Amino acid sequence: MKVLVATEKPFAKEAVEGIREIVEQAGYELCLLEKYTEKAQLLEAVADVDALIVRSDKVTAEVIEAAKNLKIVVRAGAGYDNVDLAAATQRGVVVMNTPGQNSNAVAELALGMMIYMARNGFTPGTGGELQGKTLAIHAYGNVGKLVAKKGKALGMRVVAYDPFITDAYVYENDGIEKVDTVEELYAKADYLSLHMPSTAETKASIGYEKLMSMPKGATLVNTARKEVIDEEGLKQAMTERADLKYVTDIAPVNAAEMAELFGKRFFATPKKQGAETAEANINAGLAAARQIVDFFVNGVTRFQVNK
Ligand code: 3PG
Repeated sequence: MKVLVATEKPFAKEAVEGIREIVEQAGYELCLLEKYTEKAQLLEAVADVDALIVRSDKVTAEVIEAAKNLKIVVRAGAGYDNVDLAAATQRGVVVMNTPGQNSNAVAELALGMMIYMARNGFTPGTGGELQGKTLAIHAYGNVGKLVAKKGKALGMRVVAYDPFITDAYVYENDGIEKVDTVEELYAKADYLSLHMPSTAETKASIGYEKLMSMPKGATLVNTARKEVIDEEGLKQAMTERADLKYVTDIAPVNAAEMAELFGKRFFATPKKQGAETAEANINAGLAAARQIVDFFVNGVTRFQVNK
Protein backbone atom coordinates (compact mmCIF):
# COMPACT_ATOMS: atom_id res chain seq x y z
CA MET A 1 0.00 0.00 0.00
CA LYS A 2 1.50 3.36 -1.07
CA VAL A 3 0.71 6.67 0.63
CA LEU A 4 1.83 9.83 -1.18
CA VAL A 5 2.30 13.17 0.56
CA ALA A 6 2.10 15.75 -2.24
CA THR A 7 2.68 19.25 -0.92
CA GLU A 8 3.62 22.19 -3.10
CA LYS A 9 3.97 24.04 0.23
CA PRO A 10 5.74 21.38 2.35
CA PHE A 11 4.90 20.37 5.91
CA ALA A 12 7.41 21.09 8.68
CA LYS A 13 10.10 18.38 8.96
CA GLU A 14 8.68 17.02 12.25
CA ALA A 15 5.27 16.60 10.63
CA VAL A 16 6.74 14.56 7.76
CA GLU A 17 8.66 12.40 10.24
CA GLY A 18 5.46 11.79 12.22
CA ILE A 19 3.50 10.91 9.10
CA ARG A 20 6.25 8.50 8.03
CA GLU A 21 6.17 6.77 11.41
CA ILE A 22 2.40 6.24 11.32
CA VAL A 23 2.41 5.05 7.70
CA GLU A 24 5.39 2.69 8.10
CA GLN A 25 4.12 1.27 11.39
CA ALA A 26 0.99 0.25 9.54
CA GLY A 27 3.22 -1.57 7.04
CA TYR A 28 2.65 0.90 4.19
CA GLU A 29 5.17 2.79 2.06
CA LEU A 30 5.48 6.58 2.22
CA CYS A 31 6.24 8.54 -0.95
CA LEU A 32 7.03 12.26 -0.87
CA LEU A 33 6.54 14.94 -3.49
CA GLU A 34 7.40 18.33 -2.01
CA LYS A 35 7.76 21.80 -3.55
CA TYR A 36 6.73 20.57 -6.98
CA THR A 37 6.28 23.23 -9.60
CA GLU A 38 4.59 21.40 -12.49
CA LYS A 39 1.28 19.58 -12.66
CA ALA A 40 3.08 16.84 -14.62
CA GLN A 41 5.14 15.98 -11.52
CA LEU A 42 1.97 15.40 -9.51
CA LEU A 43 0.36 13.37 -12.30
CA GLU A 44 3.43 11.12 -12.41
CA ALA A 45 3.70 10.78 -8.62
CA VAL A 46 0.06 9.71 -8.13
CA ALA A 47 0.18 6.99 -10.81
CA ASP A 48 0.48 4.00 -8.47
CA VAL A 49 -0.53 5.30 -5.02
CA ASP A 50 -3.44 4.06 -2.93
CA ALA A 51 -3.74 7.11 -0.69
CA LEU A 52 -2.93 10.79 -1.06
CA ILE A 53 -2.29 13.49 1.54
CA VAL A 54 -2.38 17.11 0.31
CA ARG A 55 -2.65 20.65 1.60
CA SER A 56 -4.06 23.26 -0.82
CA ASP A 57 -2.73 21.23 -3.73
CA LYS A 58 -5.21 20.94 -6.57
CA VAL A 59 -6.65 17.46 -6.83
CA THR A 60 -8.44 17.83 -10.13
CA ALA A 61 -10.36 15.28 -12.21
CA GLU A 62 -7.14 14.86 -14.22
CA VAL A 63 -5.16 13.98 -11.08
CA ILE A 64 -7.84 11.51 -9.94
CA GLU A 65 -7.92 9.98 -13.42
CA ALA A 66 -4.11 9.57 -13.37
CA ALA A 67 -4.20 7.85 -9.96
CA LYS A 68 -5.48 4.46 -11.04
CA ASN A 69 -5.14 2.79 -7.60
CA LEU A 70 -6.35 5.77 -5.54
CA LYS A 71 -8.86 4.97 -2.78
CA ILE A 72 -8.59 7.93 -0.44
CA VAL A 73 -7.51 11.58 -0.48
CA VAL A 74 -7.04 13.43 2.80
CA ARG A 75 -6.77 17.19 2.68
CA ALA A 76 -4.62 17.92 5.75
CA GLY A 77 -6.56 21.02 6.74
CA ALA A 78 -10.07 22.39 6.76
CA GLY A 79 -11.07 23.72 3.33
CA TYR A 80 -11.44 21.10 0.60
CA ASP A 81 -12.33 23.43 -2.26
CA ASN A 82 -9.07 22.27 -3.92
CA VAL A 83 -10.41 18.73 -4.43
CA ASP A 84 -12.80 17.85 -7.26
CA LEU A 85 -15.34 16.01 -5.13
CA ALA A 86 -17.58 15.03 -8.04
CA ALA A 87 -14.68 13.39 -9.88
CA ALA A 88 -13.59 11.58 -6.71
CA THR A 89 -17.09 10.35 -5.95
CA GLN A 90 -17.53 9.13 -9.50
CA ARG A 91 -14.35 7.07 -9.17
CA GLY A 92 -15.37 5.81 -5.70
CA VAL A 93 -12.50 7.70 -4.03
CA VAL A 94 -13.14 8.77 -0.44
CA VAL A 95 -12.22 12.40 0.35
CA MET A 96 -11.63 13.59 3.92
CA ASN A 97 -10.40 16.73 5.65
CA THR A 98 -8.93 17.10 9.14
CA PRO A 99 -11.26 19.68 10.73
CA GLY A 100 -9.93 21.73 13.62
CA GLN A 101 -6.36 20.51 13.40
CA ASN A 102 -4.84 23.75 12.11
CA SER A 103 -7.49 26.16 13.46
CA ASN A 104 -5.43 27.64 16.27
CA ALA A 105 -2.65 28.74 13.91
CA VAL A 106 -5.15 30.47 11.62
CA ALA A 107 -6.93 32.12 14.56
CA GLU A 108 -3.65 33.45 15.98
CA LEU A 109 -2.74 34.89 12.60
CA ALA A 110 -6.15 36.62 12.31
CA LEU A 111 -5.56 38.38 15.64
CA GLY A 112 -1.96 39.17 14.65
CA MET A 113 -3.17 40.77 11.43
CA MET A 114 -5.70 42.85 13.38
CA ILE A 115 -2.96 44.14 15.66
CA TYR A 116 -0.76 44.88 12.64
CA MET A 117 -3.52 47.00 11.08
CA ALA A 118 -4.45 48.64 14.41
CA ARG A 119 -0.79 49.69 14.74
CA ASN A 120 -0.85 51.06 11.20
CA GLY A 121 1.73 48.58 9.89
CA PHE A 122 3.90 49.19 12.99
CA THR A 123 4.32 52.86 12.14
CA PRO A 124 5.39 54.69 15.30
CA GLY A 125 3.02 57.24 16.80
CA THR A 126 -0.09 56.26 14.82
CA GLY A 127 -1.51 53.11 16.40
CA GLY A 128 -4.77 52.11 18.09
CA GLU A 129 -5.77 49.18 20.31
CA LEU A 130 -8.12 46.23 19.91
CA GLN A 131 -9.47 46.46 23.45
CA GLY A 132 -12.97 47.93 23.52
CA LYS A 133 -13.51 47.44 19.78
CA THR A 134 -16.18 45.19 18.30
CA LEU A 135 -14.93 42.02 16.68
CA ALA A 136 -17.49 40.51 14.31
CA ILE A 137 -17.07 36.90 13.28
CA HIS A 138 -18.61 35.85 9.97
CA ALA A 139 -19.09 32.05 10.15
CA TYR A 140 -18.76 30.44 13.55
CA GLY A 141 -16.86 27.23 12.87
CA ASN A 142 -13.62 25.91 14.37
CA VAL A 143 -11.54 28.97 13.44
CA GLY A 144 -14.30 31.51 14.09
CA LYS A 145 -14.78 30.16 17.61
CA LEU A 146 -11.08 30.43 18.42
CA VAL A 147 -10.86 33.96 17.03
CA ALA A 148 -13.85 34.91 19.22
CA LYS A 149 -12.21 33.43 22.31
CA LYS A 150 -8.91 35.19 21.67
CA GLY A 151 -10.65 38.47 20.85
CA LYS A 152 -12.53 38.28 24.15
CA ALA A 153 -9.25 37.70 25.98
CA LEU A 154 -7.99 40.96 24.44
CA GLY A 155 -11.02 42.84 25.79
CA MET A 156 -12.94 43.04 22.53
CA ARG A 157 -16.71 42.90 22.33
CA VAL A 158 -17.42 39.85 20.19
CA VAL A 159 -20.46 39.31 17.98
CA ALA A 160 -20.98 36.48 15.50
CA TYR A 161 -23.20 35.36 12.66
CA ASP A 162 -23.45 31.96 11.05
CA PRO A 163 -26.40 30.99 8.85
CA PHE A 164 -25.91 27.31 9.78
CA ILE A 165 -25.62 27.79 13.56
CA THR A 166 -28.90 29.36 14.63
CA ASP A 167 -29.08 28.02 18.19
CA ALA A 168 -28.55 31.05 20.46
CA TYR A 169 -27.21 28.78 23.20
CA VAL A 170 -24.03 28.07 21.21
CA TYR A 171 -23.11 31.77 21.28
CA GLU A 172 -24.33 32.40 24.85
CA ASN A 173 -22.32 29.44 26.06
CA ASP A 174 -19.17 31.02 24.59
CA GLY A 175 -20.03 34.39 26.17
CA ILE A 176 -20.47 36.20 22.87
CA GLU A 177 -23.42 37.89 21.14
CA LYS A 178 -25.34 36.24 18.31
CA VAL A 179 -26.59 38.58 15.61
CA ASP A 180 -29.49 37.48 13.44
CA THR A 181 -28.61 38.95 10.09
CA VAL A 182 -25.47 39.42 8.08
CA GLU A 183 -26.38 43.12 7.63
CA GLU A 184 -26.42 43.60 11.40
CA LEU A 185 -23.03 41.89 11.68
CA TYR A 186 -21.28 44.22 9.23
CA ALA A 187 -22.97 47.31 10.70
CA LYS A 188 -21.45 46.49 14.10
CA ALA A 189 -17.95 45.46 13.03
CA ASP A 190 -14.84 47.45 13.87
CA TYR A 191 -13.01 44.27 12.85
CA LEU A 192 -14.81 41.79 10.62
CA SER A 193 -13.11 38.39 10.50
CA LEU A 194 -14.09 35.97 7.71
CA HIS A 195 -14.21 32.23 8.42
CA MET A 196 -16.46 30.66 5.80
CA PRO A 197 -15.41 28.10 3.18
CA SER A 198 -15.31 28.90 -0.51
CA THR A 199 -18.55 27.51 -1.97
CA ALA A 200 -20.94 28.42 -4.77
CA GLU A 201 -22.91 30.48 -2.22
CA THR A 202 -19.97 32.31 -0.62
CA LYS A 203 -17.93 33.09 -3.75
CA ALA A 204 -17.67 36.88 -4.33
CA SER A 205 -20.22 37.37 -1.54
CA ILE A 206 -18.22 40.01 0.38
CA GLY A 207 -18.18 43.23 -1.60
CA TYR A 208 -19.23 46.84 -1.97
CA GLU A 209 -22.49 46.85 0.00
CA LYS A 210 -21.19 45.00 3.03
CA LEU A 211 -18.02 47.11 3.14
CA MET A 212 -19.95 50.36 2.82
CA SER A 213 -22.21 49.39 5.75
CA MET A 214 -19.27 49.00 8.18
CA PRO A 215 -18.57 51.62 10.88
CA LYS A 216 -15.97 54.36 10.46
CA GLY A 217 -12.41 53.04 10.54
CA ALA A 218 -13.45 49.38 10.12
CA THR A 219 -11.04 46.62 9.04
CA LEU A 220 -11.94 43.53 7.02
CA VAL A 221 -9.76 40.55 7.94
CA ASN A 222 -9.52 37.57 5.58
CA THR A 223 -7.88 34.33 6.65
CA ALA A 224 -10.51 32.30 4.78
CA ARG A 225 -10.31 32.27 0.97
CA LYS A 226 -9.64 34.95 -1.64
CA GLU A 227 -12.61 33.69 -3.68
CA VAL A 228 -15.16 34.93 -1.12
CA ILE A 229 -14.20 38.54 -1.89
CA ASP A 230 -15.70 40.55 -4.71
CA GLU A 231 -12.40 42.30 -5.42
CA GLU A 232 -13.83 45.08 -7.61
CA GLY A 233 -16.50 45.85 -5.01
CA LEU A 234 -13.88 45.95 -2.25
CA LYS A 235 -11.68 48.29 -4.29
CA GLN A 236 -14.64 50.56 -5.01
CA ALA A 237 -15.63 50.74 -1.33
CA MET A 238 -12.06 51.48 -0.22
CA THR A 239 -11.78 54.16 -2.91
CA GLU A 240 -14.99 55.87 -1.76
CA ARG A 241 -14.19 55.50 1.94
CA ALA A 242 -10.68 56.49 2.97
CA ASP A 243 -11.23 55.02 6.45
CA LEU A 244 -11.72 51.35 5.45
CA LYS A 245 -8.90 48.80 5.70
CA TYR A 246 -8.36 45.31 4.30
CA VAL A 247 -5.87 42.74 5.59
CA THR A 248 -5.63 39.31 4.04
CA ASP A 249 -3.67 36.08 4.20
CA ILE A 250 -4.64 35.30 0.61
CA ALA A 251 -3.43 37.99 -1.76
CA PRO A 252 -6.07 39.22 -4.18
CA VAL A 253 -5.47 39.03 -7.93
CA ASN A 254 -5.08 42.83 -7.93
CA ALA A 255 -2.72 42.93 -4.91
CA ALA A 256 -0.15 45.24 -6.55
CA GLU A 257 -2.85 47.73 -7.54
CA MET A 258 -4.44 47.58 -4.06
CA ALA A 259 -1.06 48.25 -2.42
CA GLU A 260 -0.46 51.21 -4.68
CA LEU A 261 -3.94 52.65 -4.26
CA PHE A 262 -4.38 52.16 -0.53
CA GLY A 263 -0.91 52.15 1.07
CA LYS A 264 -1.06 51.07 4.72
CA ARG A 265 -4.83 50.52 4.55
CA PHE A 266 -4.11 47.28 2.67
CA PHE A 267 -1.85 44.38 3.57
CA ALA A 268 -1.52 40.88 2.10
CA THR A 269 0.87 38.23 3.39
CA PRO A 270 3.36 37.19 0.66
CA LYS A 271 2.08 33.59 0.68
CA LYS A 272 -0.85 32.06 2.58
CA GLN A 273 0.56 31.24 6.00
CA GLY A 274 -2.42 30.82 8.34
CA ALA A 275 -1.58 27.16 8.85
CA GLU A 276 2.19 27.60 8.45
CA THR A 277 3.24 26.62 11.95
CA ALA A 278 5.02 23.46 13.01
CA GLU A 279 2.16 22.75 15.44
CA ALA A 280 -0.53 23.06 12.77
CA ASN A 281 1.48 20.93 10.31
CA ILE A 282 2.01 18.25 12.93
CA ASN A 283 -1.63 18.24 14.04
CA ALA A 284 -3.08 18.16 10.53
CA GLY A 285 -0.42 15.94 8.94
CA LEU A 286 -0.52 13.27 11.63
CA ALA A 287 -4.32 13.34 11.74
CA ALA A 288 -4.35 12.78 7.96
CA ALA A 289 -1.99 9.79 8.26
CA ARG A 290 -4.03 8.30 11.13
CA GLN A 291 -7.28 8.75 9.20
CA ILE A 292 -5.80 6.87 6.23
CA VAL A 293 -4.64 3.95 8.38
CA ASP A 294 -7.99 3.89 10.19
CA PHE A 295 -9.79 3.87 6.86
CA PHE A 296 -7.81 0.95 5.46
CA VAL A 297 -7.69 -1.07 8.68
CA ASN A 298 -11.12 -0.37 10.21
CA GLY A 299 -13.13 1.20 7.40
CA VAL A 300 -13.59 4.42 9.40
CA THR A 301 -14.96 7.30 7.28
CA ARG A 302 -15.77 9.80 10.03
CA PHE A 303 -14.35 12.86 8.26
CA GLN A 304 -15.44 11.95 4.77
CA VAL A 305 -16.71 15.03 2.93
CA ASN A 306 -18.03 13.40 -0.27
CA LYS A 307 -20.67 11.12 1.23
C1 3PG B 1 -7.13 25.16 5.45
O1 3PG B 1 -8.12 25.17 4.71
O2 3PG B 1 -6.92 24.25 6.25
C2 3PG B 1 -6.18 26.33 5.43
O3 3PG B 1 -6.52 27.24 4.45
C3 3PG B 1 -4.72 25.93 5.34
O4 3PG B 1 -4.28 25.69 4.04
P1 3PG B 1 -2.78 25.20 3.71
O5 3PG B 1 -2.62 23.82 4.20
O6 3PG B 1 -2.65 25.32 2.23
O7 3PG B 1 -1.82 26.14 4.42
